[in-house]
Order: sequence, then C-alpha cells, then structure tokens
Amino acid sequence: MSKEIIPARKLNGKLKLPADKSISHRSAMFAALHKGVSKIQNFSKAADPHSTLHCLRRLGVPFRQEGNEIRVDGVGRDGLQTPSKPLDCGNSGTTMRLLSGIVGGAGISCTLTGDASLSARTMRRIIDPLRKMGVQIEAREDDFAPLHLQRSQPVQAIDFPLPIASAQLKSCVLLAGLFGAEETTVIETETSRDHTERLLQLPVEQTDDKKIIRSSRKCELPAQSYRVPGDFSAAAFWLTAGSIHPNASIELPGVGLNPSRTGALNILKKMGANCTISNKNTAGFEPVGDIRISSSSLKPVDITAKMVPNCIDEIPILIIAMLFARGTSHVRGAQELRHKETDRLNAMAEILDVAGASFEEYEDGFTIHGNPDFVPKGATYHSEGDHRIAMSAAILALMARDASHVIKADCTRISYPSFWQDLSLLTN
Ligand code: S3P
Repeated sequence: MSKEIIPARKLNGKLKLPADKSISHRSAMFAALHKGVSKIQNFSKAADPHSTLHCLRRLGVPFRQEGNEIRVDGVGRDGLQTPSKPLDCGNSGTTMRLLSGIVGGAGISCTLTGDASLSARTMRRIIDPLRKMGVQIEAREDDFAPLHLQRSQPVQAIDFPLPIASAQLKSCVLLAGLFGAEETTVIETETSRDHTERLLQLPVEQTDDKKIIRSSRKCELPAQSYRVPGDFSAAAFWLTAGSIHPNASIELPGVGLNPSRTGALNILKKMGANCTISNKNTAGFEPVGDIRISSSSLKPVDITAKMVPNCIDEIPILIIAMLFARGTSHVRGAQELRHKETDRLNAMAEILDVAGASFEEYEDGFTIHGNPDFVPKGATYHSEGDHRIAMSAAILALMARDASHVIKADCTRISYPSFWQDLSLLTN
C-alpha cells in the first residue's frame, strides 16, 4: 500500500496514542511466567505484541480478551509446554530475543522463526550468552533465525557485562537467569530501557558508574495487572511534527515517561521545543503524564554515542527535527541503527536525499544542515517496510511543497496501527 500525504496547513488536536510496544510484549510474557491471574489493560493492538501473544499461546499460555483488558492465566516458570509448531515472531526482534531467553531458560525444545527482515537481523548477541548458560541453540550461519533450541540441562548462572547497550539482550539474559538456581548478574554501564527489571521487580544495585541487575529462580514474579501507558516512541512523531510545523498544537495524554525511554523529549527540549508535561502519575510500575507540544523555533543539537540508547528508536524522527533547526546538528555513535528492522541510517539517508536536504552520512550517523525555512520536495519516499521510517517520512512530507507518497505505508501496523487516522485527525 502506498499513502499520499498532502502538506498540512495545521496540526491541531488531541490523540489517544497506541499502547507502549515494549511494555505490552513484556506484560504478556511476564504474566505468563507469573503463576496466577494478570489483567492487562490497554494491551497494544499493534502487530509486534500480537506476535508475542501468538507465540505464548503456542507455549500453552491461555489469553482471553475481557472488555478492554486481557486476562492471562499465568502458568508459571514450570508450566510452559513444548510447542507443536515453530514460534513465529513475525517482524519482532523483542519477541525473538526475549522469548529465546524464556524458552532457553525453561529448557523447551522449539524453533523460533521470523519474517524476512527479522531473519536478516543478528541473533549472535543472544546466542553467545545463552550458550554460556548451557542452552543448546543452533542458528542459520550461527547467527540468524530460524533459531533451534534443544532441551538442555538446567541453566547455569553467569555474570554478564553487557557488551552493547541493548535492552533486548539484557532482558534475554535476565529471563534465562530466572530459571537458574544461582544468581545471574547483568552489569550495565550504558543505560538501556529498564522495563524488564521494573515490571519483574528484580533486585537492582546502582553505583556511580554501573547498574547490576540480578535474576534467579528465587525471584518471585509479580502479577502484571496494570494499564499499559501510551507509547513514548509513537509520541515522538507528534512531538517532532508539533515543534517543526508553524501552526501546531497537539495534546498527548497518558504517555509513558520512563526516564530510560524519554531521551528524545530531553533532546527536543534542548532544541527549544515548546513542550509542557502535566498530570504526572504512575501506571503499575511505570511513570506516565500528559504532553502538550506546539510550534517552536528549534536550535541545532548534537546526539552523542552516550545519548543514543535513550533515544535509539527516535533517532529517525529526531533527524527530521534537525532538518528544521537553525544550524548544523550531529548524530554520532548510532551504528546500532544499521541493525534494526532495516538499516535505518541508510533508509534515512535515502529519504533526506529525495527530499533535497543538506546532510552528510557517516558509518555511525549524520551531520544535518538545518534551516527553519526548508521546504522538502513533494516526493516518493520508500519506507523499506520499516514502520519508523514510514512515519518519519510522513512527518517530513507534511512540511513539503507538494503532495508526497510513502511506499509500503501499511508497515505502521507494526507499532502504530492508527497512525494514518491520527494524521488525518490532526490535519483536518
Ligand atoms: C526494545 C529495545 C530496543 C529497541 C526496540 C525495543 C525492547 O532494541 O530498539 O525497538 O523492547 O527491549 P535493542 O535492545 O536491540 O537496542
């Protein structure tokens, strides 16, 4: 499906954002591991968390929709069943990497598969520690899905200094660790999103220069009965749109404001975005609040390697914000973006090129020569089937001289199924 985007005269309104994708995945997996009932409100309707539900069903976990909540009859750590068919993780890296930790830890023989994009993403980072923990795991070229796990001895605890700031890797090891008699420790020196340790209430020790998270069979796993917050990563598209458009005022109630996720908010504020937060609250184990954003004069900014993990999924849309700032911005240390659903640095370079932007691309980022008067060409933008690229291109196209098209626009269903409706709501 291709989508036509007409330049917007205004961006005005209040949106109900999609439920947080990272929290939805975890709420379902952790509810399965809790022995007892969890009632998850506002579970994501997006394709990725539904891949997680589908896999958990195959592992014998019963889920039932009750009104606007999902009831999970958690089977506990020892209640997962050997699936009769492969676990299809679809497009979802979080499903494959976190679930590998669970089935590996539980000693369940199974195969995990994914679509073409997921099958091209490295799994080496989880294969190595899982093997150290005694999990038997085979992969295509010893790196890619399908992953075949064989029933193995009970997991051995490891001490694992995270070699990359990846919440998926951290979570995979901690989840496998939940099945070990001894304590597994993950040592983190760069902060990545902390939903796993929060939602499982794992013991955490924070020092000046590192964070140590522990998991073992001794950890009691809480029920996951709460309302999933609005997705900050989805909010970031409107935070950018609202700040770059000259006639904008957008309200975003109930957004997840976990500090390990909101790097993009701090960056936009540093750029001078007119943004206010109110009604700060908590939803279960996570902070939430309402955000209002309006037209702003943006200054340039530098995103350094240290800042990347905190805004990893928002870098494509922050690049769009930088295009409209007065001056030169930089993104460096972001080579991890080359390992996402697509090579996101490459996909963004193509979009910037087609739009007629002034920029330089590097192996690990960009230099962006911004200008508040920049008017992109009406153009055809290729999403490469990557949801965050499609939505970034759409926001750019709102600022264009003429109509634009986004190719493979339906990939927004991966994280934000109502994205195109929300876009029309703000522009009409
Ligand atoms: C996620 C972690 C991040 C992020 C992804 C979701 C998660 O990936 O890009 O969209 O839910 O843990 P990495 O851990 O690979 O950085």
